[in-house]
Amino acid sequence: MSTFEQKFKDFEQKNKDAEAGGGKERIKKHHDAGKKTARERISVLLDEGTFVETDKFVLHQNRDFDMEKNRPMGDGMVTGYGKIDGRLVYVYAQDFTIFGGSLSRSNADKIIKIQDLAMKVGAPIIGLNDSGGARIQEGVKSLSGYADIFYRNVMSSGVVPQISAILGPSAGGAVYSPALTDFILMVKESSYMFVTGPDVIKSVTNEEVTKEELGGANTHNSKSGVAHFMADDDDQAMMMIRELLSFLPSNNMEDPPVVPCTDDPEREDENLQEMVPVDPNKPYDIKEIISSVADNNYFFEVMPHYAKNIVIGFVRMNGRSVGILANQPAHLAGVLDINASTKGARFIRFCDAFNIPIVTFEDVPGFLPGTVQEFGGIIKHGAKLLYAYSEATVPKITLITRKAYGGAYCVMSSKHIGADVNFAYPTAEIAVMGPDGAVNILFKHQIQSDEDKQKHIEEYKANFANPYRAASLGYIDEIILPKDTRKKLIQALEMTQNKTQSNPPKKHGNIPL
Ligand code: HXC
Repeated sequence: MSTFEQKFKDFEQKNKDAEAGGGKERIKKHHDAGKKTARERISVLLDEGTFVETDKFVLHQNRDFDMEKNRPMGDGMVTGYGKIDGRLVYVYAQDFTIFGGSLSRSNADKIIKIQDLAMKVGAPIIGLNDSGGARIQEGVKSLSGYADIFYRNVMSSGVVPQISAILGPSAGGAVYSPALTDFILMVKESSYMFVTGPDVIKSVTNEEVTKEELGGANTHNSKSGVAHFMADDDDQAMMMIRELLSFLPSNNMEDPPVVPCTDDPEREDENLQEMVPVDPNKPYDIKEIISSVADNNYFFEVMPHYAKNIVIGFVRMNGRSVGILANQPAHLAGVLDINASTKGARFIRFCDAFNIPIVTFEDVPGFLPGTVQEFGGIIKHGAKLLYAYSEATVPKITLITRKAYGGAYCVMSSKHIGADVNFAYPTAEIAVMGPDGAVNILFKHQIQSDEDKQKHIEEYKANFANPYRAASLGYIDEIILPKDTRKKLIQALEMTQNKTQSNPPKKHGNIPL
């Protein structure tokens, strides 16, 4: 064998070693648990054959605990770049079959390298997390790696989209890198996130809770609001990431990709004409209106299981990405509460950071009353929504389908806080409060009978519970027929497409946290 041949053979062998992960036995255990390996996940995520691996031969540098005797190639972390729908993305994936995917200083450096590249080049970064957290044998060196990653997560925020999939354990401080990114996906029954695990909780508070109850996909998608998506398995999680990215630009200096539109932008929908019940107390599903106006009726919902009284997500309208925020009358009458406010506010800020216009569908009876909400700080949390809408400079289009009462009228992208186009259906009711409440206050001492009260209610409705007062003041630009919603929204989006607006220069605002 020539020297060349020998060297190439060595190289081939090293590649094989690096790709072998933690070995057949550990990989089998991993597969038996229904999980894919780091490399398998990357190959599902990226366009076929596009993955370029970086730092494949990096080794850990630890000499404690006899660790010098066990130095697997790549050190349990697969990093690199590739393409999704032909567009560049950076990716890192923790290999649980090597030291439980725990984070060493060396593999933190591998992540940092691609974080820095993602920022310089302006492309999204995707983390596939499956890790026992900081590598215990490395002590503070491992912690320093986490902190360096967190710092870059923050610096990248609003510059490039950052997406985290949780595909196994994510414990301790390890949850904070995902928490600093834009979207978190979890997989049912195989992923969990918590700051302190069940054993610590038992010893400190005496509470008994399983890992799944404490920090499983269901918990974080429906109770805590930490996660945005829940997948059935690793493959579905990878597909969701691909789809999510299809709505987003690669960085904050670009516009989202435009796809050819196969749906008539002027398409009318007769079903919408009577979709909104005239009775303000009757629920209906706002998602039917959203999907009716979307290209090919397709709505990609974000956080579908959390604070269902507000609906957020992405659609395309005439081929362009649009962020949707909508009160949901089918859940708690679409009332605004703490969870709905924070869910909505963060989504608005994401859309604004990445040049995605926002369409708001409004049917809201107001903020939820009660001590739970007041003690929980509905004042500051509701203010987040107000703040986020006010500071957003992307095109903002609002449609009031029915109720726009009280403070909620102001908050939900009213003209006064910077909406560019405000529509209302003829069924809209724009007032300080609903007819019943208003009459009870205004005529408290005069009302003699039910008939008397009904008369005042009818009078109030005729005067205030309609869109014409607001339209007469220019607060509503146009009253539209429900069947024309798609056409009207697309016209407004086209009209505002070249909008440029900037807020006063400042270091940063002080959003109520
Ligand atoms: C080094 C680790 C490790 C870690 C797991 N391993 N976690 N090695 N550092 N943090 C190793 C195990 O020793 C084992 O090696 C292999 O990975 C698989 O782990 P198992 O325990 O056998 O697997 P499993 O039963 O599935 O349990 C997985 C686990 C558990 C739940 C993740 O290993 C665990 O609780 N690990 C510790 C979690 C933790 O407390 N991490 C520190 C968090 S604090 P062998 O060779 O036996 O197969 C933190 C600070 C961050 O991260 C600070 C940022 C601010």
